[in-house]
Amino acid sequence: MSVDVHSVPRAPGALPLLGHAWQLWRDPLGFLNTLRETGEVVRVDLGTMPMYVVTTPRLVHEVTVKQARSFEKGRLFDRVRPLVGNGLATATGEVHRRHRRLLQPVFHHERIAGYTEIMSTRAAALADSWKSGQHIAVEEAMAEYTIETLAQTMFSTDIGRPAVEAVRRDIPVILKNMLVRAASPKFLDRLPVPANRQFDAAAENLRSVIDQVILKTRDAGKTDQPDLLSVLLDARDADTGEALTDIEVRDELVTILFAGTETTASTLSWAFHELARHPEVEKQVVAEIDEVLGDRPLTVADLPKLTAIRRVLDETIRLYGVTLLMRRTLTPVQLGDHLIPEGSEVAFSLYAMHRDPAIFERPDDFDPDRFLPERAAKVERQAYIPFGAGNRKCIGDAFSWTEATIALATILRRWQLRPAPGHTPKAAASAMAHPDHVPMIVMERER
Ligand code: HEM
Repeated sequence: MSVDVHSVPRAPGALPLLGHAWQLWRDPLGFLNTLRETGEVVRVDLGTMPMYVVTTPRLVHEVTVKQARSFEKGRLFDRVRPLVGNGLATATGEVHRRHRRLLQPVFHHERIAGYTEIMSTRAAALADSWKSGQHIAVEEAMAEYTIETLAQTMFSTDIGRPAVEAVRRDIPVILKNMLVRAASPKFLDRLPVPANRQFDAAAENLRSVIDQVILKTRDAGKTDQPDLLSVLLDARDADTGEALTDIEVRDELVTILFAGTETTASTLSWAFHELARHPEVEKQVVAEIDEVLGDRPLTVADLPKLTAIRRVLDETIRLYGVTLLMRRTLTPVQLGDHLIPEGSEVAFSLYAMHRDPAIFERPDDFDPDRFLPERAAKVERQAYIPFGAGNRKCIGDAFSWTEATIALATILRRWQLRPAPGHTPKAAASAMAHPDHVPMIVMERER
């Protein structure tokens, strides 16, 4: 076994000074998807900084679960800290553990059941707003649905209304300028280019409006409408009895908004695109919706019965998952045959792992039936982790499933979405492999 980082094979095509940055910039998804051909651990140079990419489920499991305590969050997360502060996604060590304990109840199944009314109302409002024959940009409609849903789940009182408005206005601007910021060197943050100015203004406005809403909500005391904000304000550490400070509450709210909107919106947009391309799958989904719901409105109890939707979502998220996650080593860490030094950036791509032909047969095909229990049992559990694994696993996974299932069931029982001619959606790398543009035509469903 080698104990030397120089033994890590380097991905081909590095240029002097730029390293592999140009490949990551030109075709990030394609580049990440080829790295497994170089090895289990592959060195990729971000300019002059090496990043060690692990490419197998076994080593991703080492990083996320077995040796999780030897890592903190890496560079990608440093770059969003000015926006989300020390919220759950960026915090490390004891601060992370404490916040995770405090936030867990907010995302418990019973709580999520309480949020489903907002999800259903928003989905119905969206479906009602369309007319037969209308052309829509699905990615915009889904972004609006997920942003509205989360904003209203967080701030359901009159006091919270300015925060809902701020989320509506500022989150799209932040998400649009985020990738440019995460991918560029730190000194560029201060350049007065429009992307930075817009990002800074939106982040500042959002944070200050939420600060004011938190203060007013505390002053007003208990409400009979417990929303996500009031649950966070009331949260107490089971061991110490400690509560979150106002600043911590704000950072958590912004973190959740940031982590929980684009991810679900991208999954939903791709799901509509893939269903339109696979009418036989769509037929099965619609038949199941009819059978489970008949003519009555959807309730929480119906959700586990919508198994065809679940498979469609599983398969969509496999194909268009989280692009790149990063960690930094806190001590030297043995990964496979290599000892990676302290302070190194280590990364992995769920998108690439979920398209590995050694794990998934015909990995680029959309085939929801691969998630039928008997076929899914053949895939190792560690090889399909769309929400990550270990102590940093997504805290919003059940929220996201519920929200996405409600949206698909509510829309598909009424409308059939068909691709509008002239554009084939392409995957663009952001946090997820999200679609660039999904133009579709809304048609009344024949029943
Ligand atoms: C399709 C939808 C989603 C996907 C694919 C997704 C994926 C992920 C992944 C892979 C991680 C782990 C990151 C890492 O290991 O570095 C994560 C973390 C996180 N996600 Fe999600 N997510 C989704 C939706 C949501 C939603 C709806 C929310 C909130 C309402 C949310 C909140 C969070 C938070 C707060 C973290 C940080 C957890 C921690 O570090 O303890 N996510 N997500």
